[in-house]
Amino acid sequence: MRLTVFGTGYLGVTHAVCLAELGHEVLGIDIDAAKIEMLGEGRVPFYEPGLEHLLLKNLESGRLRFSTSYADAAEFADLHFLCVGTPQKRGENAADLSHVDAVVDTLAPLLTRPAVIVGKSTVPVGTAARLTVRVRGAAPAGEGVEVAWNPEFLREGFAVADTLRPDRLVFGIERDRPGSAEGALRDVYTSLLTQGVPLVVTDLATSELVKSSANAFLATKISFINAIAEICEATGADVTVLADALGYDARIGRSFLNAGLGFGGGCLPKDIRAFAARAGELGVDQALSFLREVDSINMRRRTKVVELVAEACGGSLLGMNVAVLGAAFKPESDDVRDSPALNVAGMMQLHGAAVSVYDPKAMANSRNLFPTLEYATSTSGACKNADAVLVATEWAEFVALDPVELDSAVRARVIVDGRNCLDPSVWRSAGWIYHGLGRR
Ligand code: UDX
Repeated sequence: MRLTVFGTGYLGVTHAVCLAELGHEVLGIDIDAAKIEMLGEGRVPFYEPGLEHLLLKNLESGRLRFSTSYADAAEFADLHFLCVGTPQKRGENAADLSHVDAVVDTLAPLLTRPAVIVGKSTVPVGTAARLTVRVRGAAPAGEGVEVAWNPEFLREGFAVADTLRPDRLVFGIERDRPGSAEGALRDVYTSLLTQGVPLVVTDLATSELVKSSANAFLATKISFINAIAEICEATGADVTVLADALGYDARIGRSFLNAGLGFGGGCLPKDIRAFAARAGELGVDQALSFLREVDSINMRRRTKVVELVAEACGGSLLGMNVAVLGAAFKPESDDVRDSPALNVAGMMQLHGAAVSVYDPKAMANSRNLFPTLEYATSTSGACKNADAVLVATEWAEFVALDPVELDSAVRARVIVDGRNCLDPSVWRSAGWIYHGLGRR
């Protein structure tokens, strides 16, 4: 099939590349000419394992192209995926839909043939219905244009695998127009459906809510275990053992029960805020008021880690050298949007520490976002003369650190495990003072 993908961020590039990998002819569109040029040359503007290889492969096959021209897009295909960002509005909790609206407003006047616009971006419930009216009003094809929603659940770091082997597909279809958009989407994903990927077909509002609810649930699960970590800290219990024991209960499950520095990134924090804000607009804000607590438990973890490092340094950060290992919001990503690691690094600097940060992939993005921090080019460089070492992102190379090898670099053998990813017994037996979160 011929398909277009609007927006070439994490979601859009991955989706465009994977659609081409599934055998479709794909045109990726963005207003950022530099990004389009880069992609056309086979370079991915961010780090995502396996993506660049598939980009090159599909560019070479001729199935994948990139352009800034909306006219080309409207001419090329009749099924258009919407993958632009929905960031948090400045100074508000609600989602900023200006990018979504801009794509629709620019594309609609060019739609002279019947077409389907399929939203993948995470949007407040009701957006698809609003866009339907908007696009039909502006498109020469009028009622011939349909809007459907096909939410995306991919995780950064596993984006390719999550797109080519998703847990489920969800199609939101206009209630009084069942048929054509569903058929088109079934054709797009035929190969996944024949492999047995579960499919849920529903109305537009439900499909939008599936995504918001999924992220709210994941965030709640993380904040739940972090709240329990606070109790563990007050009692001397160990949250990691507790999480293992909880996880054996199939109704609970072990995933997303890792206590630590909490969640960050470009999705969970802004999505739970937008969801709660939308509930307020709908007059049901009480239903999601717990998400404010989820958010504040999460933010408390960052302050807790700053306090823990200060304690580990003898009570104050003033004049202390602190190594921060990890800047990305999670491993296998160079994304530093709302990264707990960088946030904590910044706070410790404000408390008077000399902070040296190292991350295997996120150095350039970190420097852009936080130019005043000091950056090292290796783990040992960051740890030079450190009074405390903080592991803030659980990259494999930090998990595998050998305390004996780090001995000669640091000034004091003090490690704070912000992700509970190290084995305390290994560090303690090598003579280090180990601090975890929610554990003795
Ligand atoms: C998330 C959702 O998982 C995905 O389905 C959605 O499409 C986008 O948002 P992502 O932002 O890539 O994906 O990251 P995810 O793996 O969910 O982790 C989010 C944050 O939670 C990270 O900062 C991570 O370190 C943290 N986390 C995760 C925990 O603190 N504890 C856990 O047990 C799991």
